Amino acid sequence: MKILIVGGGGREHAIAWSVAKSPKTDKIYCAPGNGGIGEYAECVDIGAMEFDKLVAFAKEKAIDLTIIGMDDPLAGGIVDEFEKAGLKVFGPRKNAAIIEGSKAFSKDLMKKYNIPTAAYENFDDPAEALKYLESAQFPIVLKADGLALGKGVLICQTLQEAKDGVKTIMEDKKFGDAGNTMVIEEFMTGREVSVLAFVDGKTVKTMTSAQDHKRAKDGDQGLNTGGMGTFSPSPFYTPEIDDFCQKKIFQPTVDAMAKEGRPFTGILFFGLMLTENGPKVLEYNARFGDPEAQVVLPRMENDIIDVIEACLEGRLADVDLTFEDNAAVCVVLASEGYPQAYEKGIPMHGFERFKGKDGYYCFHAGTKLDGDAIVTNGGRVLGITAKGKDLKEARKNAYEATEWIEFANKYMRNDIGKAIDEA
Ligand code: AMP
Ligand code: GLY
Repeated sequence: MKILIVGGGGREHAIAWSVAKSPKTDKIYCAPGNGGIGEYAECVDIGAMEFDKLVAFAKEKAIDLTIIGMDDPLAGGIVDEFEKAGLKVFGPRKNAAIIEGSKAFSKDLMKKYNIPTAAYENFDDPAEALKYLESAQFPIVLKADGLALGKGVLICQTLQEAKDGVKTIMEDKKFGDAGNTMVIEEFMTGREVSVLAFVDGKTVKTMTSAQDHKRAKDGDQGLNTGGMGTFSPSPFYTPEIDDFCQKKIFQPTVDAMAKEGRPFTGILFFGLMLTENGPKVLEYNARFGDPEAQVVLPRMENDIIDVIEACLEGRLADVDLTFEDNAAVCVVLASEGYPQAYEKGIPMHGFERFKGKDGYYCFHAGTKLDGDAIVTNGGRVLGITAKGKDLKEARKNAYEATEWIEFANKYMRNDIGKAIDEA
């Protein structure tokens, strides 16, 4: 089969690695790709939002299956465009991708179908939001409704901070149109867990759990980022918690989407908080997590193409999804300064040290080829993943491998997976 992957981050590199393992795969293209995906795929210089060009490319190359990695094209309706052109594509249609694209939609869905989540109100008028805040309890959480690269969430400790937040989101439009509507939500405490699932419109099959580290600095300090590292599985996600989530969150969400006339096919990502009062949904994403994919896919035993085909043919119920009985840790190597200003174009060295090392992976995120050299090209540059028999060993291996790569403004967190020591 000829496969096209849309996106160009560490997640898409992990997807390409997984697709490359399938005996069904003959050739992989990735649009736009990055400096490392070329190891498995031919990178094509078409942007993820250039739907017409992508459709034309898929037709010209007779692509058998397109996999959409990123959120923006999904929310923008790329799947509908591919389907209209008679092309096979994996991801939710626009009317289902809204589960990630609009937080107000997802909160209303959860309320309507009794899916546990934080108490909230939606606002499209800043004056109404300010009035509501006058009698609210703090801390409180403000969320821009739309996609904002994982940065549209403000946790406000005081009324003044929250008032400033309303201005930032709804008036100054820091996150653009994503802030036309805003959710104000109860602040919850607990451990966060990411559970990703394959969905075929009616059946949901969850993958092994993972935990992200969203803040830029050690000890969960600093600004929110796209994710600085992950581990899998989460020792805090016990079989009892899983049982609750399957019955009260995962299947009810998929059923709710079908009932609403928005059947979901693709990857559904449940961002959960394990609170004192049980697991609650923090957010839904309509795609693989980044960097969750980098620890989950290397542990998956199934052929990813088989599972995707089962989703597209509505027979996911027959698939036995299995994962290795081990652990993986991914440490993101970022550019110093991320998620704010940082330099790009810095040469990198050491990639050859990953060659032939089983269980070690160097997934590229913000890199590009400059002649024969690989240079930095983004805030999150690489995801260094390693497996181990348990989380401790995986963590030790991953940190060891972070030393194999050198570049001038390399920055990472030193405490990815440290929480597992407390488990
Ligand atoms: P989200 O994009 O909705 O996942 O939010 C980003 C991050 O903000 C989450 O991973 C949490 O760490 C935090 N967060 C979001 N909503 C809440 C909430 N209601 N209570 C506490 N923390 C939250
Ligand atoms: N790592 C969180 C996300 O992909 O949204």
